[in-house]
Parts: sequence; structure tokens; C-alpha cells
Amino acid sequence: MHFHPARLNAHKRDGGKLSADQIRDVVHGAVDGSLSDAQLGAFLMAVCCRGMDAEETATLTLAMRDSGEVLGFPSVPGRKIDKHSTGGVGDKVSLALAPLVAACGVPVPMISGRGLGHTGGTLDKLRAIPGYRTDLAPAEFEPILAACGFVMAGAGPSIAPADWRLYAVRDVTGTVESIPLITASILSKKLAEGIDGLVMDVKVGRAAILKDRDTAHALAQSLVSVGELAGIDVTALLTCMDAPLGRTIGNRLELLEAVALLRGDGPSDLRAVTWELAAEMLELAGVVTDRGQAWQKLDAAVDSGEALRRLRQNVELQGGDPSFVDDPKALGEAGATLGVSSPASGYVADIDPLELGLCAMDLGAGRRQPADEIDLDVGIVLARQLGEEVRAGEPLAIVQARTLAEADAALPRVLSAFRIGDTPPRPRRMVLERLTSA
Ligand code: URA
Repeated sequence: MHFHPARLNAHKRDGGKLSADQIRDVVHGAVDGSLSDAQLGAFLMAVCCRGMDAEETATLTLAMRDSGEVLGFPSVPGRKIDKHSTGGVGDKVSLALAPLVAACGVPVPMISGRGLGHTGGTLDKLRAIPGYRTDLAPAEFEPILAACGFVMAGAGPSIAPADWRLYAVRDVTGTVESIPLITASILSKKLAEGIDGLVMDVKVGRAAILKDRDTAHALAQSLVSVGELAGIDVTALLTCMDAPLGRTIGNRLELLEAVALLRGDGPSDLRAVTWELAAEMLELAGVVTDRGQAWQKLDAAVDSGEALRRLRQNVELQGGDPSFVDDPKALGEAGATLGVSSPASGYVADIDPLELGLCAMDLGAGRRQPADEIDLDVGIVLARQLGEEVRAGEPLAIVQARTLAEADAALPRVLSAFRIGDTPPRPRRMVLERLTSA
């Protein structure tokens, strides 16, 4: 039957199920421009309100994947596994995890996004490395992956172009918060990497896109089921985003914290989340049989220096200067630094990650609008993490800003994110739930 956008939209609006051909027609129309923004907006709103079942979502995902180039790495042996996060404050996990997992013998072809709003993107953090190229042409991926075990790049216009158009319309039509649309958007780009398995970090909490546990669970379930229908194994972990992850927020600061983790230093919450996700990747790749073996392999990759060696090698292969790996000062510093002192003695009972994320964004570390320029050097360092003891007058955080005036203006906001109590809070559980199709 001839494609009739208004009738198709009305069918979904009234709660109907779309056929595979109808869904493919919409995706083709999005990419070739034959559907207007109004027609796409109505389609997206109908899906947002009425939902899609797993079969419809899988068809949408595969049609979006096939709207562009689908990579494959025939010369690289082994199951290729990637990880994706729904985004959090201080989430620099990918920067440490890719070299770590590569050092354990699992190839990681990672396509990442830029940050928007209070959550930073891996591509922005990588820009803090002088010369590092993330605008790789698809043909450049394979030799880098073969040489050092991982590659990190932006999606570019040839990967899932349907998502570019659909996401732009979602952004201005109030249709971002839809589980089938988020699932198809994430998985179409990841499937275009030609991976065999994906580990999803679905953040839950105040600073996550999905704030409540039930919605985060529903997204994780959708990613696992649709991934399976689309032919890959997916494991999803729900992880805590009720406080910043690690001790740094800001692009250069986060890059250096990830390097510290690979050196065997680094904060315990960041280490816990990174190791849990990395262990899931080793399991999906089939290179370990149980969790204990995975942790041993990961610890050995750090202790032997192999994870850092992979990172240096990758930075050189992607055109960057790896000196920051051994000399953090090689990356320069922010213009002005001011400390935030604790008004009372006690324990850090709460740190609001959303307030700190928004404050770091306003300092210049993030974007309000897609076209905004970001500042790689500014950010916030936590001198005290959740649960740590502090005395009145001791520092809670350090603000790094472009100017003294900007640092000064941020101090009350940073202070307002901290709550000091008389007793330590209950320790955070970093991993709240695990779902898998494997
Ligand atoms: N990340 C994506 O890539 N797409 C979405 O829709 C939401 C988060």
C-alpha cells in the first residue's frame, strides 16, 4: 500500500501497531527529507504517548542503523564489545574502561557523543588531549582497533544519519523522554559499530536523564530485549547517580582522573563502577568464566602497566600527544582556583550532583545549546566525597574557573550542593540492578 504519513501517524496516535514496512518508510522519509518536521514531530509524539512494543522498536532500531554505514572489523579477531552510559555528572568511565578492557584482550570500537546540558560527553573529554582526533573516517577505525585494541570516535554523518534528524526533531518537540525512542537512538548507533555485545550503564538518580528507578529499569529492560531481537547480547547495569562519580567534574580534570584510575589510584566509587562494567564486558566477550576471574584480569592489566600502555598507544595512533599520561601538568591549568570551605564539622551527608553539574556547565565545562563552545580547563574538584569527615574551615571543593570573578560567583552554589551532618550516611550502593540477555 502507498505510504500515507498522516494515516500512519493517526494509526499510532490511536494506539495501533505499526508494520515493519511502515516503520521503514518513516525512517527513509526522515533521511531523504520527504517527511517534513511537522510529520516527523507528529509521528514522534504519537510514539511517545502510545509507545512501541519490542518488535516495533527493534524494526525502528535496525532501520535507523541501516540508514548509514555499518562497520565491521574482519581483520580483528575476537568478539567486539562496547559500553554506553545514559550520562551522569563526573562520568569519565569510558576513558579508563576502553584501554582497560582492550588490555584484557577484548576489542572495543567505541562511538561516543558530545555532552549536552549538565552531563559531559566522552568526545569533549578527549578534546582535552592536544591533537587527538575523534573525527575519524570509518575506514580509519579498523587499523587503530587492530593495533591497540580500542578506538574512540564521534558518530559523524555516515553513522545512523536517521538518528541525527529524528533527535533534532525530538529535541524541539518534547519527545526525548520515550523509552522506545531512546532505545532505538542508542542501539542504532551502537549496532552500526558492528559489535557483538554491549554493556549499558543506565544511570538512576537526581542527575540522570531517568531519575526514578522504575523508569530506568524499563529502559534497561527495553535495551536488553531489543538488543537481543537485533542480534547482539546486552547486559545493563543500573548505577547510582545520586552523587557525582569520582572527585572531578570538568573535561581535563576528568581525563586526568581516568588516567589516575589506570595507574592504580583514583576514587573507590569510580573504580567500583568501572570494574563492574568492565567485568561485564569481559564476560560478554567470553574471555572469562566468572566474576572473580574478570576482576583478577582487570587488576593485572593495571598492575602490569598494560592498560596505560594501550592508552598511550591509542593517543599516538589518533594523532594526540600522550605526555599527559605520565605528566598531568602537560595539559595546562585553569585561570583561577578558589576553595570552598566547610561551614561546620561533621560528615558529608549529601552532595547534589545536579547542582554541581549545572554549576560546572555555567563555568564553561558544558553546553546549554548544541552550538556552545566549551572550556576544557574549568571544573570542580571534590576535596571531600560523600561520607567523609570534615572539620569547619577545611576545604569541601576546589573551583577552577576562567577568572577569579567567575570562580568567586560559583562558590555559594558549590557550597549549597553539600550537606554536612553529625553522622556518616549509609554507604552508597553503586550497582543497583543487573539485567542481561546473555
Ligand atoms: N542518548 C542517545 O543517544 N539518544 C537518546 O535518545 C538519549 C540518550
